[in-house]
Formats: sequence, structure tokens, C-alpha cells
Amino acid sequence: MSEMHLVHMFFHSPITHTALSWASEEDGHLAGMGDYGYWQDIARTLERGCFDAAFFADTPAASDQYKGGPETPLKYGVVWPTHDPMPLAAVMTAATKHLGVGVTLSITGNSPYLAYRRLSTLDYLSGGRIGWNVVTGHMQAEHKAVGQQLVPHAERYDAADEFMEVCYKLWDSFGEGALPMDKAAGILADPDKIEKVRHEGKYFRCEAVSPTLPSPQGRPVIFQAGSSGRGMEFAVKHAEAIFAIQPHLKAMTAFRERFDAAATKAGRDPIGILFGLQYVLGSTEEEAHRRLEALRERVPLDAGLSRLSAPLGIDCSTLDPDQPLEEVPTQASQGMAQALSQIGSDTGKKITVREAAIQMGLSVGLPQVIGSPEQVADEIERHWRESGAFGFNLSAPTKPGMIEEFVDHVVPILQDRGLVRRDYSGNTLRDNLGF
Ligand SMILES: Cc1cc2nc3c(=O)[nH]c(=O)nc-3n(C[C@H](O)[C@H](O)[C@H](O)COP(=O)(O)O)c2cc1C
Repeated sequence: MSEMHLVHMFFHSPITHTALSWASEEDGHLAGMGDYGYWQDIARTLERGCFDAAFFADTPAASDQYKGGPETPLKYGVVWPTHDPMPLAAVMTAATKHLGVGVTLSITGNSPYLAYRRLSTLDYLSGGRIGWNVVTGHMQAEHKAVGQQLVPHAERYDAADEFMEVCYKLWDSFGEGALPMDKAAGILADPDKIEKVRHEGKYFRCEAVSPTLPSPQGRPVIFQAGSSGRGMEFAVKHAEAIFAIQPHLKAMTAFRERFDAAATKAGRDPIGILFGLQYVLGSTEEEAHRRLEALRERVPLDAGLSRLSAPLGIDCSTLDPDQPLEEVPTQASQGMAQALSQIGSDTGKKITVREAAIQMGLSVGLPQVIGSPEQVADEIERHWRESGAFGFNLSAPTKPGMIEEFVDHVVPILQDRGLVRRDYSGNTLRDNLGF
């Protein structure tokens, strides 16, 4: 193993994974939503820490699963408002030279041509520093917002396969010498060397020439985060790197082994996996735990229950908060109960619905590494070595201060141990990821 890759996770929203973090004295994220400079400072901080990329998750509509409506997410600002992350990819790459920006763009409500155009424009403008997290859109609310029915899970992935097919045709449409850009002759392109794409499929149609120029990396880096059988099949077919959330180290290792086997079966080398981790830093262990407790106390039970509703697939307002989670009668609850009780540990202790909800409100299932910079560095190193991860998709409960602390105090420890690079080796995101 050489060095680990670091990506930092955000939503273009007042919080990332911690409910009510926007209300913390330490947090500037809500105000930052209306300030280009805020995002540019974060980008420069991440570049100082040699991160590969900032990554924007995106769920483009307020969830309405809890109590049958969006009131709870709206009241507490739980991933609402949910602004478009695409402009931030421009803002953040404009402020940096090497940092990549990964953006989530769902196939729901999009056409391949328009998605291709937006992503390729950003990739061209940034000198090849864009990544695309391809998602199919699993939220009912997202479908209602664009006037579509929620399509069954497997079919969403079938449509996503076809979506990608159209995008590849557009990316691959430039022949050798297609762009002379000859000022003296007044010739920009050789039309014979740019293929006209004609696609007529089950889900999409497209008849067009590429509206954009190819970027220095040719096409954005493709990320994927599906973990079901069909999701994994899609990832193995298309992804250059995988985002995953697993509740603890053992589960990360098992997940990585499962993915390696799927890649091998498909005749590919193993695909690098970036596991989600939330860090809670303090100058001492005690301070980190004080910060964590302050965050935990602020999570409203309602906000936590609304967060818990999605993975359990039920409206958690109907549950007794003090009943053991494992007694909740749903298909999903056994797995979720086990996963939630094991966040950050392998102890498997039983927890109540209330405890699970608060934990979901705090980290949405991301395992946490908590402590002084040395302790956080130790835990990150242990997770990396033992899981065989490509790297981590990190989340900070409050911003921007804790990101600066991570870059100034944790990254140097990892660099001294030879685990994180000290300089960027290439210019594009794909170069820096080593692909
Ligand atoms: C780290 C991570 C980030 C994700 N980001 C998004 C996102 O931004 N938007 C979204 O709609 N789904 C997102 N997902 C959900 C996945 O795209 C996918 O729907 C989910 O992992 C379930 O996969 P499956 O349907 O194959 O089981 C994310 C998942 C993970 C693990």
C-alpha cells in the first residue's frame, strides 16, 4: 500500500451529517451558504491538506418520509435547504490548482445530454478536476418534485446503465485531430472527426454532437455508491472509485472483500473504496468528547427519528422511543439495529429507538473517530491498514474550523508517517487519484 486518499464530504445545505450543527457557536456553514468566499476558503484549506477532492452529496428535495411530510426537515434544517452543488464545483476549483470536486448528479429528472453538458463544462473549465457521483435517486420526494413515479430499484439501475451509455458515446465522439483550432486558417474543428451520437434506447433518446470540448482528463472521474447486488453490479461496470458507509472496521473489511470479489468476477482489478468517517477533534481527548456531547445534546429527537425513518423504511414517529431497536418489526430493522449499535465499535450492544435516532441525527451511520489529533490519526491509520481502503470520505460535524484543525494537526501526523502525500503529483483529479 502506498498512501491513502482523502476526500471531504459536504452537502450544499446548512448541515452535512449532524442535525442542528448549524446552530453551534462553532459553525459558520449556514452563513457560508450565501458566500463564495466561504467555499473558496474551504477549498484552499483542503488543498493545503493535499486532499484529492471535496465531495458533494446531493438529495435535491426535502425528505417527506417522516410524519408524511417535509415539516421536520424544514423546521430543523435537516438537509433543507438543499442547494445545487454544481456551482460550487466551479467556485472551489477556481480558487485552487489541484483540488478536485466530486458532484452528485442523479439520473432522476435529468437527460443524459444535459447532464453530460453540465459535467463536461465544469470538467473543461476546471482543467479536468471534476468527479461525478452517479446516483439513481432513491427518494420518493425527489421523484414527486420532478413529476415522476419512483421507479423500482432494479429498473432505476437499468436506466442508469443506459444513461451512462449515452454519456460515453458523447465523451468518445472526438476522433484524433478533431480540434485543429487553427487561428490562421480560421478552422476550429474538423466536423468529419466528431461523431454524431444517435441513441434510441428503452429509457433515453439522444441525437447530437457533443456540445462541449473534451477536458484534459477526457471525462469526469466516475464515482458510485451503490451497495445492493444490483448497485454493486452497476459500480463494477462504471465506477473508478466507490463511496461506501459501513458502521465499523469489520464491516468495512467485509464490504471491501465483497467488492473485490465482484470486480474480479467482472474481470476488473479491485476498485478503490473510500469509506465514510466522521471525525470529532479536540486539542485533548476530553475536549473532543465535550464537543461531541454538545452536538449530541442539540440533536432533537424528532430530527433523529426523521433521519432513522429512511433506512428503516418506516415512519419512526409511530414507534415507542424506548423500545429496543431490534424489536422494531420491519424487514430492514435487524440489519440496521445491528449496524447502528455498532457504529464506531464492534461491541454489538443493544440500543433503543431513541439512542439509534440520536446517533442517526449525529452522524447518519458514519462511524466516528473522536479524540486528539494523534488519536484521530491513529484511528484513521488503523482503519486504513486493516480494511484495505483506498482512502476516506471524511465528514466534520462543524465547519469550517474543524476542517482547518484536521488539516493543520491531523494531516501533518499522517504525512510524517508517510500515509498522506505532501504534494500533488498531477494536474487532473484522475492523475491525483493515481488512475
Ligand atoms: C457515501 C455515500 C454517499 C451517497 N450520496 C448520495 C447522494 O448524494 N444522493 C443520493 O441520492 N444517494 C446517495 N447515496 C446513496 C447511493 O447512491 C445508493 O442509492 C445507496 O447507497 C443504496 O444503494 P443500493 O440501492 O445499491 O443499495 C450515497 C451513498 C453513500 C454510501
